[in-house]
Amino acid sequence: MSGDRVAIITGAASGIGRAAVELFSERGHKVVAVDLTAEGLSWCAGRADIVAVAGDVSQAGTNASMVQAARDTWGRLDAVFLNAGVVGSPPIEGDGAVERLDQVLAVNVRGVMLGIRHSAPVLRASGGGSIVATASTSGIRADPGSWAYNASKAAVINLVRAAAIDYATHGIRVNAVAPGPTITGMTRGLETMPELHRDMTRRVPMQRWGSAREQAQVAWFLCSPDASFVTGVTIPCDGGISANVGHFLPPEAPGGERG
Ligand SMILES: NC(=O)c1ccc[n+]([C@@H]2O[C@H](COP(=O)([O-])OP(=O)(O)OC[C@H]3O[C@@H](n4cnc5c(N)ncnc54)[C@H](O)[C@@H]3O)[C@@H](O)[C@H]2O)c1
Repeated sequence: MSGDRVAIITGAASGIGRAAVELFSERGHKVVAVDLTAEGLSWCAGRADIVAVAGDVSQAGTNASMVQAARDTWGRLDAVFLNAGVVGSPPIEGDGAVERLDQVLAVNVRGVMLGIRHSAPVLRASGGGSIVATASTSGIRADPGSWAYNASKAAVINLVRAAAIDYATHGIRVNAVAPGPTITGMTRGLETMPELHRDMTRRVPMQRWGSAREQAQVAWFLCSPDASFVTGVTIPCDGGISANVGHFLPPEAPGGERG
């Protein structure tokens, strides 16, 4: 892909979003990096090929600003990676459950809808492009104690299908990546719970966690011309976890080898 292509990437302060900014930038894209605070985005200060936009993706104003930044700085938009997301699901009958559902849906679902809504006109004006959302294996099946997150990520998967159909004749492809367990800021706390961490790793057929870079690579593929006939799909990037019904644990690696 040529050097004058422009991408917006949300959740860019950490984890998958940051890895995606680095990957798209390495491969010649100009990038608008979006996250909640300017401080979180300070890692890309001084980079001529990156513009930072601080704001909450659940707000229309942030989505308008990020698209405006792409248009004002580089005059076009080719790829949009709507990756910002939050977890957290108190017990359904517990305190704050209704408020938490609203917050999780606002970031994970409304944020994706607003990202599509605001970027589509500029993608169209740029001759077409690609939108990728970050879903999750937790949107394909469910986890114990994670109902709000599970519901939000399942919504992302079907929002992507519906938007792909609506935008198919506009030259805009809409897809998602569904990460399995991935080493990022979101999962950092799990490293302090070795038993849970080991148990989660055991359930991944490849017997390891993914890296943020591996997730970014799927977003890159979906944004690339190599995916020119791919729209409305969610690609799991999960070491095989979504392939397993879950009745049986996958085989252990012989001699501790990793997949
Ligand atoms: N890490 C995993 O194992 C995993 C698995 C499946 C899906 N995901 C998804 O991957 C995406 C990226 O998460 P990550 O794992 O890199 O976690 P992360 O916490 O490292 O990064 C998420 C980033 O999103 C930002 N963010 C959160 N709410 C925001 C908002 N309202 N507006 C703007 N930015 C906001 C955070 O500040 C943070 O920088 C999320 O959508 C997450 O649900 C992660």
